[in-house]
Amino acid sequence: MKIAVLAGDGIGPEVTREALKVLDALSLPGLVLFEGDVGGIAYKRHGHPLPAETLEMARAADAVLFGAVGDPECDTLPREHRPEQAILGLRSELRLFANLRPAAGFPGLEDLSPLKPELARGIDLLVVRELNGDVYFGKKGERDSAGGREGWDDMSYNEAEVRRIAHTGFRAAQKRRKKLTSVDKANVLETSRIWREAVIKVAAEYPDVELDHMYVDNAAMQMVRSPGQFDVVLTGNLFGDILSDQASACVGSIGLLASASLGERQTGFGTFGLYEPIHGSAPDITGQGKANPIAAILSLAMLLRHSLGREEEANRIERAAAKTLASEIRGADLGGSASTGEIGDAVVRNLLSIS
Ligand code: NAD
Ligand code: IPM
Ligand code: MN
Repeated sequence: MKIAVLAGDGIGPEVTREALKVLDALSLPGLVLFEGDVGGIAYKRHGHPLPAETLEMARAADAVLFGAVGDPECDTLPREHRPEQAILGLRSELRLFANLRPAAGFPGLEDLSPLKPELARGIDLLVVRELNGDVYFGKKGERDSAGGREGWDDMSYNEAEVRRIAHTGFRAAQKRRKKLTSVDKANVLETSRIWREAVIKVAAEYPDVELDHMYVDNAAMQMVRSPGQFDVVLTGNLFGDILSDQASACVGSIGLLASASLGERQTGFGTFGLYEPIHGSAPDITGQGKANPIAAILSLAMLLRHSLGREEEANRIERAAAKTLASEIRGADLGGSASTGEIGDAVVRNLLSIS
């Protein structure tokens, strides 16, 4: 079982270190780790945010454990050299079109959500975000206009792209509460009109799943008004990016939400995938021991479940993380004083006591 570890920039290495502590504590036989440079650090060392060796390492692995990329020193580089291009490049080169971002309330954190406790307690949703298309991957550029320089970005989805992610969403809903909300902006965007029509066609194959449609502005409002109404939220790349950060705040902190990015390739143990917290490199807290490693640790759990067929270990990690949060070992993002390393150590202790 080969895991490529790409820790990246900022708090990426800080939170990844804690996930690796947890992995180490499991003592899984036959596991080999490879470490590669990615993001700003890779640009500084090799002249490119996603060096060919890093991409090859990811391709050759059964799964990728990713930290975060992003570096304020790189913010003025031309787009192709920006750290963020590394994660976009991995997602497209590895054909990881399905991004799963689960958000569920943790017992004991209800009072730390900006929402009323009874609302926070009811959150149990899964954002299924399309990851290879939308305005992210359309042509883009700059041109002259009467108003000066003008930036432009093509936004598009074709039916095949929508169908592919819709199947992922409906299958996920079948294993959950059988409700799927497709989020779009079909009242304004042609991209969304095609999206909605394609989702409706796919829905015919899943008569057991209840489908509804919501415009993204309403969805953002509903997510804070009554988040408990959502089960699977199926949406495009841009809306999914925004709504998942919002869901994380409803749960309590962006440092809590993990993600899996999956495609179709099967390995000997499961589906090849890339696993990362939904947060970024957090330059404002880098190097201070303030980063919450729970999202990275839960990303490891998703890796074990989806790519390595280790459901039992994944469940144990999730229980150990929940127990740690419930025991009030929390970082500054949740009003506590535990450091990144102390949170990781507590998860390891809880993991070993659960077995
Ligand atoms: P961010 O997610 O890095 O940080 C947003 C806020 O949340 C900050 O105040 C930060 O301190 C806090 N935060 C984030 N993760 C935390 C954690 N684990 N524990 C405690 N607090 C945490 O988003 P941003 O500030 O908009 O972006 C910073 C950089 O990260 C940018 O370069 C951006 O492009 C990049 N980014 C990368 C990824 C990725 O690698 N997948 C994701 C998002 C942003
Ligand atoms: C995320 C990030 C990325 C995205 C950026 C860094 C390209 O915000 O993983 O949520 O927009 O997908
Ligand atoms: Mn994001």
